[in-house]
Amino acid sequence: MLPVTRRALRVSILNLISSVGLFHRPDPATQSVEKSAAAGDATAALNRNGERFTLSLRAVAKRYDNARQTLAGVDLEVNAGEFVVLVGPSGCGKSTLLRMVAGLESVSEGEILIGDQSVNNLPPSKRDIAMVFQDYALYPHKTVFENIAFGLRVRGAAKAEIERRVNEVAAQLQITEFLPRKPAALSGGQRQRVAIGRALARHARLFLFDEPLSNLDVKLRNEMRVEIKKLHQQFGITTLYVTHDQIEAMTLADRIAVMANGKVEQYGTPDEIYNQPATTFVAGFIGSPEMNLLTLPLRPHKGIRGVSLGDLFLPLPAAFSDYQGDEVILGLRPEAVLRAQHQTETTIACILLIEPLGAETIVTLTVHGQQLTGRWAADRNLATATTLPVTIDNQHLHWFDAQTRVNLATQFSNTTSMETLP
Ligand SMILES: Nc1ncnc2c1ncn2[C@@H]1O[C@H](COP(=O)(O)OP(=O)(O)OP(=O)(O)O)[C@@H](O)[C@H]1O
Ligand SMILES: [Mg+2]
Repeated sequence: MLPVTRRALRVSILNLISSVGLFHRPDPATQSVEKSAAAGDATAALNRNGERFTLSLRAVAKRYDNARQTLAGVDLEVNAGEFVVLVGPSGCGKSTLLRMVAGLESVSEGEILIGDQSVNNLPPSKRDIAMVFQDYALYPHKTVFENIAFGLRVRGAAKAEIERRVNEVAAQLQITEFLPRKPAALSGGQRQRVAIGRALARHARLFLFDEPLSNLDVKLRNEMRVEIKKLHQQFGITTLYVTHDQIEAMTLADRIAVMANGKVEQYGTPDEIYNQPATTFVAGFIGSPEMNLLTLPLRPHKGIRGVSLGDLFLPLPAAFSDYQGDEVILGLRPEAVLRAQHQTETTIACILLIEPLGAETIVTLTVHGQQLTGRWAADRNLATATTLPVTIDNQHLHWFDAQTRVNLATQFSNTTSMETLP
């Protein structure tokens, strides 16, 4: 257990949020620029001229030495003030992309722009970016004070100014007593606050977070997630945030970029990613338990092509009638697999596994040899190896090309909209 009480952490982070304006008090040299900003407007005080910045990645590619391409032409437009989350399997290039934006890795091809300024050849210290790393990247041989001071020193801040700001940050984060210590003598939660404090202790045009909460226990993680969201809502600094955690991705993001094999597979709002996944990869990656994906033969039934699932016939939407394949991949979220109530069209399922989660239960079923996962309301009477009638919510089906694995709604986007689906 980390020696940080939840209450103390909440207080410290709320203090941090309410004091961000302090960290970004204008330098004397820039005060004249900021005089025009409305008095008391903390957001305007965030950046030197109160501006929010866009981030543009244009065909950005990365090749380490002679290795195969790590990033294969990434295009990503982040609006000013937007919170964009990058998700994807381990090794797909998320950290590499973030490090390239920060200037810690060179760009092999393509262009990175902050606002309308190309930063490809700008050293990290000139980019005005604050980054919180997966492992916090604290300097082990430096004290907490020196770790927080580092970014200010690099920018040539005066000694007295550095001292004032570091002490201010430390007080707000309740880590003053740790200032003389080395990072090795801190808990994970304390190191994380040092890392966030370091990021906030100076002007930044962009915030980059690389799995900042991954080393925390679940409770602390949930609290920090809420606080990061508040921080962003209040000050709206353009943010690129990498995580493996789907809840973080869905709750924090204005838009999510799902990456696979060094490319962005889909870029959209959490709602679009969840409800209109572009490919089976995105469909299977976002959502827990993951979407059921069944490869099924298409066959005619009363003159309509569709698929059979036990005794159920699910017609292919008319909008996809030009689809040429003999097979299709049917996507069903667990919440679309329903216990039959009064429906006329049902099929019999056998319960293989029951996983009670309190308010709900995850059930694994077999329907005529096909395995399906359902998310049902808790019910103590469910028993494995018993059968019961189930049905499918056919308002929420996803149809994918069996060869390309692309959503047919994308493939036939000229001819369909969600309203025309049966
Ligand atoms: N300095 C390096 N030299 C050579 N290859 C590297 C280097 N850094 C990363 N790679 C490779 O680039 C690929 C992408 O790594 P990256 O760290 O960006 O992945 P990631 O998506 O952040 O993964 P994770 O989720 O595990 O953090 C990996 O195959 C990795 O081995
Ligand atoms: Mg990484």
